[in-house]
Amino acid sequence: MTLGQLRTFLAVVRAGSIHGAATTLFVSEPSVSAGVTALEKSLRVELFERHGRGIRLTRAGEEFARAAAEALGTLEQGLDAARHAAGSGTGRLRLVAVTTAGEVIVPPALQGFRRLHPSIEPVLEVGNRALVMERLTSRDADLGIGGRPPHGSGLVGTKFLENPLILVAAAGHPLTGRARVDAETLSRETWLVREQGSGTRTTTEEFLTEGEITPRSMLTLGSNGAVRQAAVVGLGVTLLSAHAVAGELRSGVLARIKAPGLPLQRAWYALRPERGSIPPSAALFLAFLSSPAARKILPASSAERASRTPVR
Ligand code: PGA
Repeated sequence: MTLGQLRTFLAVVRAGSIHGAATTLFVSEPSVSAGVTALEKSLRVELFERHGRGIRLTRAGEEFARAAAEALGTLEQGLDAARHAAGSGTGRLRLVAVTTAGEVIVPPALQGFRRLHPSIEPVLEVGNRALVMERLTSRDADLGIGGRPPHGSGLVGTKFLENPLILVAAAGHPLTGRARVDAETLSRETWLVREQGSGTRTTTEEFLTEGEITPRSMLTLGSNGAVRQAAVVGLGVTLLSAHAVAGELRSGVLARIKAPGLPLQRAWYALRPERGSIPPSAALFLAFLSSPAARKILPASSAERASRTPVR
């Protein structure tokens, strides 16, 4: 068994096909198949089986994929730690973040961090909560940025920034001028929501259920940008992280709607696996996130300040 075969095997697992793996690895399909076959031979276990017109992991393959991802991830972290200890320049910082954090929190944080540690090369992957947990668990990422880690997830989190969620609509929307808007009125609105899998979407659904709000209609739009823009042009109201709409609130194209229970007080956490250590570059970034230098850079926005006034 070689590292190359393990990497090939994991590429097939992630892409879901030989063709997909060949595309991501920039190699031919026969060489991917040969790598997987050689690995199966050396393990004396079938890792994939035919499924319709494609392939899927066997039970044995699933077990091995988990262990292989963790082993390769740990090895990469070990390599970075060794390079760091040897003082040989660039450590890598492998980050994974949920969409909103990836868009508005990580970029300014990296700008501040890179000024202090220019030799550390960050790589950021952005996805939904499930992807963040998977990447951290399999040690494909060193540190994650997202909401509070669920109990029993095997992850621990360090809170480093408030993340208030506020309700907004286009400036001039009749509800934006009111002192307080009740559930019945909010039920008559069209609600703009993020895609399934988004934490913001889940939070919105919980907020609607708890507040007994049954929207007249809901429009699903697959990104913060699309939701924001739809709100700006007057398609509906939306509950978003204050950080995601800070610019629009400042420029006056969006305005807040005040309703009971809002803003929802959430927080951003730096996430890591409960077990084992994190590489030195990740430890430096983690320390930076809670430092006074980061506080100056991270968006403790006017939107956040405005959103702190609770509505009863
Ligand atoms: P989202 O995630 O940006 O994908 O909605 C936010 C969160 O998980 O808190």
